[in-house]
Amino acid sequence: MPLVTSTEMFKKAYEGGYAIGAFNINNMEIVQAITDAAAELKSPVILQASAGARKYANSVYLVKLVEAALELHPEVPMVLHLDHGADFAVCKDCVDNGFTSVMIDYSSHSFEENIEESRRVADYAHEHGVVVEAELGTLAGIEDDVKVEHGNESYTRPEEVEEFVTRTGVDSLAIAIGTSHGAYKFKPEQCTRNEKGILVPPPLRFDILEEVMKRLPGFPIVLHGSSSVPQEYVKIVNENGGKMPDAVGIPEEQLRKASTLAVCKINIDSDLRIGLTAGIRQHMAEHPDHFDPRQYIADGRANVKAIVAHKIKEVLGSDGKI
Ligand code: G3H
Ligand code: 13P
Ligand code: ZN
Repeated sequence: MPLVTSTEMFKKAYEGGYAIGAFNINNMEIVQAITDAAAELKSPVILQASAGARKYANSVYLVKLVEAALELHPEVPMVLHLDHGADFAVCKDCVDNGFTSVMIDYSSHSFEENIEESRRVADYAHEHGVVVEAELGTLAGIEDDVKVEHGNESYTRPEEVEEFVTRTGVDSLAIAIGTSHGAYKFKPEQCTRNEKGILVPPPLRFDILEEVMKRLPGFPIVLHGSSSVPQEYVKIVNENGGKMPDAVGIPEEQLRKASTLAVCKINIDSDLRIGLTAGIRQHMAEHPDHFDPRQYIADGRANVKAIVAHKIKEVLGSDGKI
């Protein structure tokens, strides 16, 4: 099948109490790892490209890589999504060049400006059969060139969501309930430590999610910044020359719970980066004589595939949903 939009996927996910993984793509190996895992587990999947990814790989390569994955796994429903589109122009470029879904992220602008730009994108995208995600509230952390310091993030205000969705006509809404971008989602002082000394972050604000659900029944909600920063991979990185002290993510059981509620799309990037890096670092340390990139990148790719498979089965619950 050709690339699809997320409309049908989200409807089934909402009704079925699971979520679709939206994994960031930056190169061939990452596309292969994600789509091979999705195919093996018979799971729909969203492949998303940020501005940084489009700059790094060139958007044409990314579109063609996804087309190649689709040719190899025609049975897997796949969406190609623009992650954090900065304005109408970027979204239009993606709508015009093969993406089936775009995000307009005007969340750092005023409510009225966010409505205006999101509506403009939705009108254009819908004319071309493409769906639109927008965001209300801001997450802490780093995305592309925007860094939101801890303390400057703001939770979504549930009382704004109906007006926002009605006036913009967007198809899904990213909300801020305590997730955060990157591998250092919380400062150690915001966390407690468990018996192993591992940081435990503050819980997600399920009260906000539930209030949003009441106001937007049946409407698909998106969670950004949802990497869990798996400690086993962080350990491999640190034991093989890396330095990632106090890296901390969102506990998987909280994401699992969100998937059973209105959350239909869960964004994961940092976990894949950590897995890839762990595989490469370990390979390099164990085989200092190797210099063929296929050898060490293959180990990184295998980790990414294992992480995506784990997310699909244990966190998202999207396995067998093709
Ligand atoms: O939300 C941010 C994503 O992890 C993309 O990160 O802008 O470094 O590609 P990036
Ligand atoms: P993580 O940094 O938690 O993987 O979040 C990724 C993301 O939200 C992409 O939009
Ligand atoms: Zn994001």
